[in-house]
Amino acid sequence: MPITPVLTKRWTTDESWLMRTYEDDGGYRALRTALGTPQDDLIQLVKDSSLRGRGGAGFPTGMKWGFIPQDDGKPHYLVVNADEGEPGTCRDLPLMMADPHALIEGIVITCYAVRANHAFIYIRGEAVHALRRVQNAVREAYAKGYLGGDILGSGFDLELTVHPGAGAYICGEETALLDSLEGYRGQPRLKPPFPATHGLYQSPTVVNNVGTLASVPHIVSNGADWWKAMGPDKSPGTSIYSLSGRVKRPGQYEAPMGTTLRELLDMAGGIPAGRDLKFWTPGGSSTPLFTAEHLDVPLDFDSVAAAGSMNGTSAVMVFDDSDCVVRAVKRWCEFYAHESCGKCTPCREGTFWYVQIYERLERGDASEQDLETLLDLSDNILGRAFCALGDGAVSPVTSSLKYFRDEYVAHFEQGGCPFRGRGRARVKALSGSERA
Ligand SMILES: Cc1cc2nc3c(=O)[nH]c(=O)nc-3n(C[C@H](O)[C@H](O)[C@H](O)COP(=O)(O)O)c2cc1C
Ligand code: SF4
Repeated sequence: MPITPVLTKRWTTDESWLMRTYEDDGGYRALRTALGTPQDDLIQLVKDSSLRGRGGAGFPTGMKWGFIPQDDGKPHYLVVNADEGEPGTCRDLPLMMADPHALIEGIVITCYAVRANHAFIYIRGEAVHALRRVQNAVREAYAKGYLGGDILGSGFDLELTVHPGAGAYICGEETALLDSLEGYRGQPRLKPPFPATHGLYQSPTVVNNVGTLASVPHIVSNGADWWKAMGPDKSPGTSIYSLSGRVKRPGQYEAPMGTTLRELLDMAGGIPAGRDLKFWTPGGSSTPLFTAEHLDVPLDFDSVAAAGSMNGTSAVMVFDDSDCVVRAVKRWCEFYAHESCGKCTPCREGTFWYVQIYERLERGDASEQDLETLLDLSDNILGRAFCALGDGAVSPVTSSLKYFRDEYVAHFEQGGCPFRGRGRARVKALSGSERA
């Protein structure tokens, strides 16, 4: 069900990224409210709102903030995860392009609440356009006194540093990100200890996603009950779903958590005429595939988990009956093999061997034994890899074998991909009104 936009409400306003547009629309008023509120009450407000992190795992945000030790005499940090590397995910970059001040306001409120005086935005380095946009907004915020010393006369000081990454998917994993930010090679750290106590420079650190932080000013302005009134009780609020693939109008769709794919497809004009939905990801390539039988699963953290997948980053990639599932999964495996940081054997070796087997499948040289090897490799990665990248690599492999084993078998029974050569025919078929 569409709603009045919250996170995307300014996206279509002229020059929405400028300070004057943001302030004209009530921007930075939530910050004034927050600075007049005791810090523990702010943390409680976010706990009461049941806001859950939008970075993928859905961890309760207020609880994460509450883990930061108080009066420990150490510096505290907020690190904004703006790496957005999960295949299919495209919502943090548009948010930073269209509404960077919403993120900055969320950062200042969060830092005040967790008593942090230095925040970092770790942003995907290739996204130079978003980097420049955010840097400009940060400059504007310093000039207006929303950042720097004695913010709005409150006595609260905050420095905000924008740091571009170098384009490694693993640097979106929060501890690899912290190592990268400290100047080391970006590889995950052993947990525990967790960043809440031993994060950046071994000090208490909150790591939050862009969308999580941009939600905070709205919760401060409108209250926890308002946020909870949207979506299911345990995963409330709105989410920006990124729809891509075989949909007529791909893009970002904001809707309450718990919206179904059927409803999202209605908003996006459906899939191309004459085609049938075949498979889709509810939350990026690291989440087990769904099929047409899952059209009515509410897309929120708990409902998607109950149906056998993960809500992840709400990145919905849609495939129709002209798409080869083996080919799609092969491309994802190549991605994971390339992005595996190499620190642990199950992921480093397993993702390499995945690719070898998918190449055999495409050539038509594979056999039943290869399918068993894929499952065996998956057993040896899942739960045994050092970080969640390894588990994510397993998701498309095992879920596609579960739903489409026949299509794998067709690859060796028919001497290669049964969809070979159909791509061009399809592009031709779509050259009329359907592509408009
Ligand atoms: C391989 C990998 C890549 C990740 N990439 C991102 C990312 O690009 N952005 C993000 O916010 N979280 C990413 N995460 C999740 C983070 O580790 C972390 O859970 C998140 O930033 C916490 O923020 P949240 O509580 O606001 O969701 C990734 C996790 C893994 C395992
Ligand atoms: S699971 Fe993969 S990405 Fe994670 S530590 Fe191991 S090798 Fe590195």
